[in-house]
Amino acid sequence: MTAIRKAIFPVAGLGTRFLPATKAMPKEMLPVVDRPLIQHVVDEAREAGIEHLIFVTGRNKAVIEDHFDRQFELEVTLSERGKKTELELLEDDLPPAGTVSFTRQQSPLGLGHAVWCARELVGNEPFALLLPDVLVQNKPGCIAQMIDAAKSLEPDANIIAVEEIPMDKVSSYGVVGVGKSRGKAFEITGMVEKPKQAEAPSNLIITGRYILQPQIFDILSRQSAGTGGEIQLTDAMIELTRQQPFYGLKFEGRSFDCGSKIGFLTANVAYALERADLGPALRAELPKLLGRT
Ligand code: G1P
Repeated sequence: MTAIRKAIFPVAGLGTRFLPATKAMPKEMLPVVDRPLIQHVVDEAREAGIEHLIFVTGRNKAVIEDHFDRQFELEVTLSERGKKTELELLEDDLPPAGTVSFTRQQSPLGLGHAVWCARELVGNEPFALLLPDVLVQNKPGCIAQMIDAAKSLEPDANIIAVEEIPMDKVSSYGVVGVGKSRGKAFEITGMVEKPKQAEAPSNLIITGRYILQPQIFDILSRQSAGTGGEIQLTDAMIELTRQQPFYGLKFEGRSFDCGSKIGFLTANVAYALERADLGPALRAELPKLLGRT
């Protein structure tokens, strides 16, 4: 497969599940410990060698653009005060000039439509897609594992991250059918977006990390609305399985669905526990909290 140089981050969602926190602030800027959700996901992409970050934004998301730019006054102040560690932190997180693009999804027509909005910026090459609601805690990251797995697959292969969940939760996700194994990956025999439990082909759900071929854009341009009245990426991927090889990868690591409050809270605890500066103190606090219930 051609090297994966570009990644799409769809960040146009309204974040209604986190109101009032997300009334004036994009949900992607909610912190998991001390890094915004979107920063964690961008970190995962950059660690995997992705060079160009493409954000599909919407109205009221300008703060995300600011976050991936210099904060000149802050930098001057930190420098005057000799705050070297903080300055280095900001410098490390700053993507190189010219490697970040923003485009707007003008109406909330669904994930498939958001991805399609990035077609001109992606061009004719395979790309990564990372949904910022999902965090995967692992080194190497989920998208790096997928890029690695893709090396032993056909040049026109598509690959999506999947994981097992309890059967009674599948109707909130895209669900895949499982075919023959190919190394660490397996062939996908079918996909369905948010099926009823009885109609789900398995308990393997689509986790929110994708490597897709650019042919998906042609399909998306013709795609009509599906589940929930939205243009669904899953429906376009179903059509792509008829043209190109399509694989699932059960990745290493734990995922957190930060689109739900419980997933978001659990991610905060899990990421803080891994931190040398916070883990021990939090570990000491947790039993006190739990003992009280
Ligand atoms: C989207 C996808 C779904 C996937 C999920 C992962 O759904 O459409 O296939 O399983 O992300 O979080 P959404 O959560 O945007 O409804």
